[in-house]
Amino acid sequence: MTTLITNIKELLQVRDTNVLKVSGSNMKTLPTIKKAYLLIEHDTIIEYGSMQDLTTLEADQVIDATGKIVLPTWCDSHTHIVYAGNREQEFVDRINGLSYEEIANRGGGILNSAENLQNTSEEDLYQQSIKRVKQVMKLGTGAIEIKSGYGLTTEAELKMLRVIKRIKKEFPLKVKATFLGAHALPKAYKDNKKGYLDLIINDMLPKIEKEHLAHYIDIFCEKGYFSLEDTDRLLTEGKKHGLTPKIHVNQFNAFGGIALGVKHNALSVDHLEELKDEDIEALKNSNTIAVALPSCSYFISIPYTPARKIIDAGLPLALASDYNPGTTPSGNMNFVVSTACIKMKMTPEEAINAATINAAYAMGISKQYGSITRGKKANLIITNPVPSYNYLPYAFGENHIDTVLINGNILE
Ligand code: NIG
Ligand code: FE
Repeated sequence: MTTLITNIKELLQVRDTNVLKVSGSNMKTLPTIKKAYLLIEHDTIIEYGSMQDLTTLEADQVIDATGKIVLPTWCDSHTHIVYAGNREQEFVDRINGLSYEEIANRGGGILNSAENLQNTSEEDLYQQSIKRVKQVMKLGTGAIEIKSGYGLTTEAELKMLRVIKRIKKEFPLKVKATFLGAHALPKAYKDNKKGYLDLIINDMLPKIEKEHLAHYIDIFCEKGYFSLEDTDRLLTEGKKHGLTPKIHVNQFNAFGGIALGVKHNALSVDHLEELKDEDIEALKNSNTIAVALPSCSYFISIPYTPARKIIDAGLPLALASDYNPGTTPSGNMNFVVSTACIKMKMTPEEAINAATINAAYAMGISKQYGSITRGKKANLIITNPVPSYNYLPYAFGENHIDTVLINGNILE
């Protein structure tokens, strides 16, 4: 099966095979081809170039993209899209003056979602979660990382991870699974953090390895959750089971978690709303990428990750949604890109780089996803007719997506 897309107004993010992420001032450049075509064979990008150089219109399917922009689908490298129920009451409580911390201290927050998930069957959890997966695919997400962490018992964590595995099997978008057992201290271990970490290490990790349920290990390294010492221990143990670290860090407090993540060769350090100069220094000369989650800042009214500070220090930055019931009940990457431009002063080029190639890097898939490159997966967004790509983040409330292709197939 071949698909030819013709008359593309502008084809964005055209890269060489060897570009796996872009850093610093290079993020300002978004390589494009104007008046372009693109040829797909089965699930793969085979060829592209200027319309002038197109020699034949022969293909099983031809899509005329006159006036439209084509770009790689978004990679969402940080989500908690598998969850049960919602937390709309906490949303109202926050409007009425309670903080995220106060709600968590009253037994709300992550523990609220954990209780709900523990009482939900695996089938029901799957059905609730795939509604969201279908939504985000329509919104242009072609690859997604999904975390556990609302189980907090061996049984419920495995239930979450099995649901993620089933999504991976049943849906065409690329899925990577992350084990986040250390998301919060469950009620049963309120005064026994060591006991819970022992449970994760001695019971959960071996079972996860045996069933091949995760690629990555995550921990909420934060005051009131897990310390540097806990993080060091857990990441060390996780690596013994073949899991690469990706950590939640510097969301509310900066106390050295980023340097620790770098020490463990974490693939990504995520959140970073609070960021010190020493955190920036720690990231220099590392393979660890910073991931910003602007929808979370928007929803719970906390500072935005200082993107300028990160990029202007020559570092790469990725953007993700953090889709979860507590701090970000949205997986809309178009909104993430807009918000990064509007609130974090990222240029459209930087934001698009951050949500495609760099986001693919942050989930370990940038060899196959995140740019228009011969041999990469044909995961593409075709926009509605727009004046330029700046218009995509500019007109933030509009749906700009005409068609999404995943593995070369049009998403119905
Ligand atoms: O990434 N910060 C920790 N975890 C999630 C939110 C968890 C929740 O409130 O349910 C986050 O924001
Ligand atoms: Fe998160």
